[in-house]
Amino acid sequence: MNRMFKATTAGRSVDEITEGRRLRRMRKADWSRRLVQENRLTVDDLIWPIFLIDGENRREEIAAMPGVFRLSVDLAVREAERAAKLGIPALATFPNVELSLRDQTGSAILDPDNLVNRASRAIKAAVPEIGVITDAALDPFTSHGHDGILRDGIIVNDETVAQIATAAVLQADAGADIIAPSDMMDGRIGAIRDALDAAGFQDVAIMSYATKFASAFYGPYREAIGTKGLLKGDKKTYYIDHANADEAVREAEQDLAEGADMLMVKPGLPYLDIIRRLKDEFAMPTFAYQVSGEYAMIRAAAANGWIDGDKAMLESLVAFKRAGCDGILTYFAPQVAEMLRA
Ligand code: PBG
Repeated sequence: MNRMFKATTAGRSVDEITEGRRLRRMRKADWSRRLVQENRLTVDDLIWPIFLIDGENRREEIAAMPGVFRLSVDLAVREAERAAKLGIPALATFPNVELSLRDQTGSAILDPDNLVNRASRAIKAAVPEIGVITDAALDPFTSHGHDGILRDGIIVNDETVAQIATAAVLQADAGADIIAPSDMMDGRIGAIRDALDAAGFQDVAIMSYATKFASAFYGPYREAIGTKGLLKGDKKTYYIDHANADEAVREAEQDLAEGADMLMVKPGLPYLDIIRRLKDEFAMPTFAYQVSGEYAMIRAAAANGWIDGDKAMLESLVAFKRAGCDGILTYFAPQVAEMLRA
C-alpha cells in the first residue's frame, strides 16, 4: 500500500445527512446515559428457581450448571431466608425425586408429603414472606421423564390433566402461592383453576408456562432433576414447535381464557419476540424463564474467559425487561440480587 486515499464523504456532510439529529449526543457521558435509560432491572424482577433433593444437609453441585445446587429441604429453607433478606420476591422449586419413587404415571406427585410439598411447608413456615411457586408437572416423578402419563407411546392428555389438577390442590395445601404448570397439556389451566376453587384456594394464583417451546436449552435441567438418562424421545407432541409464533399467541390466549393470572415464556433469550408479542397483545403480567441452557452458556463462556460473565448476565436480564417482562425466573437471581444491592 503506497497510495493513501483522502477520507471524505462522497457528497453531503454528516450534518447534512443527519439534518443535525445526532443520537450520540445523549450517549456522551455516564450521567446523560443514566438520565435517558429506559429499562432497569431491580431485585423485584427476580424469581429464583431452586432444585430439591431428599436427605439432610445435602448440597450437590450440578455439573452443567456451575454455582447451582440440589439442596435438601433444610438447606433450601436457609436459601429461602437468604433470598428474603436480599429482597427476592419468590422462589420456584423443582425436585430431583429418588429413582425408586418414579413410575409410569408419576404417581408420587399425588403424595401430599412428596419432596416438593415438604419443601413448601418448611419454607412457608420459616419464611412466610417469600412467594413459593411450584411446578405441577409430572416429569420429575415419571420413570420416563415425560410431563404426562405415557401409554402405548402416547402422552395421554386428559388423564394427565386430572392428575395435575389434583396435584395442584395438594401443592396449594402445602403452602404454594402460585401454581405454575409446565406440561403444556390442553385444558390444564381451567382444570387447575376449578380444582383450586373447589378446594377453597381462590387466592392461589396460576402462572401458566403458556408458551413453552420444544428446546435444546433444557439440557442441564434434565441433569439437575435426573431425567437426562430416562427421557425417551422428545417432547414435541406437547411443547410448541420453536419455529412458531402465532401458535404461541393462540396458546396464551387459551390459557388466559381458562383463568391464568400470569403468562410465562420459556426459554427466554431466543424468544424475546414472543415476550413482546404477548405483552402487547394481552397486557398481562408476563414472565420469562431464562432456562438452564442459557445459564450454562453464559457460565461456560465466562469460565473460558471468552465473555465477561457478570456483564453478559446483566445484559441478558435487562433484555427481558426491554422485551416487556415483568419478571424473570433466573438461576442468577441471588448473584444479581447481591450485585444490585452493592
Ligand atoms: C418440565 C420442565 C422443564 C424445565 C422445567 N420444568 C423442561 C424439560 O425438562 O423438558 C426446564 C427448566 C430449565 O431448563 O431451566 N416440566
